[in-house]
Amino acid sequence: MANSYRPVAVVTGASSGIGAATVVALGRLGYRIAAGARRLDRVRRVVGESGLASGLNPIDQARDDEWVEMWEVNVLGLMRMTRACLPLIRKARHGHIVNLGSIAGFETYKGGAGYTASKHAVHAISRTLRLELNGEPIRVTEIEPGMVETEFSLVRFHGDRKAAKDVYKGVKPLVAADIADCIVFAVTRPPHVDIDEIIVRPIAQAAAWLVARKG
Ligand SMILES: NC(=O)c1ccc[n+]([C@@H]2O[C@H](COP(=O)([O-])OP(=O)(O)OC[C@H]3O[C@@H](n4cnc5c(N)ncnc54)[C@H](OP(=O)(O)O)[C@@H]3O)[C@@H](O)[C@H]2O)c1
Repeated sequence: MANSYRPVAVVTGASSGIGAATVVALGRLGYRIAAGARRLDRVRRVVGESGLASGLNPIDQARDDEWVEMWEVNVLGLMRMTRACLPLIRKARHGHIVNLGSIAGFETYKGGAGYTASKHAVHAISRTLRLELNGEPIRVTEIEPGMVETEFSLVRFHGDRKAAKDVYKGVKPLVAADIADCIVFAVTRPPHVDIDEIIVRPIAQAAAWLVARKG
């Protein structure tokens, strides 16, 4: 960080997985970080382990309907966060919005209608933002990962550890730090360089539904 200038990063989903790894990676770079998720104890632990000061964003909501929740988090959550942060980002010297999409944002697979539709929406929102922010010093990057081993599968299988583990059977998946690396790459480019999208998968994964497994 040149002089005393320390950029601010607002990281959602910071209690685990990619969000937590991003807090750690950006913290190492000297960013000031506001971290948010529902499990505040976990967010505090991530922030504490990184030795960072934090702003916490308590969100307390529970819904049964998986599709509704998926859209709440992936689509409405993203839109609300964008709307809340944009006025602040516009006040900064330059800004950067990094959205977590997925290969499910441009691929489809059987049984994935709810998730793929929500991630297609993330793709559309990111592309729309780029049009709307054209001419302003604000970059928009969409990170589109394939299979990453986080708590994602544990949540998807409602805490069934075996089912969650089986997702990664016979394959070396990406880890959260691999995605944080991509985010760090995007945000540390010179201000005139906009990394539109980064698609990143395990080498064994050719499509959301095509994974070469050993054994
Ligand atoms: N893992 C993969 O294979 C993969 C692949 C492609 C894309 N992605 C995307 O990467 C992003 C991060 O996923 P991850 O793999 O890091 O999963 P994760 O380990 O399950 O982390 C999800 C994070 O989101 C927070 N969260 C979930 N529901 C929330 C809600 N209603 N309100 C506020 N915060 C909420 C969780 O915190 P609390 O539960 O504490 O609130 C947690 O911090 C997601 O958008 C996912 O779709 C993941």
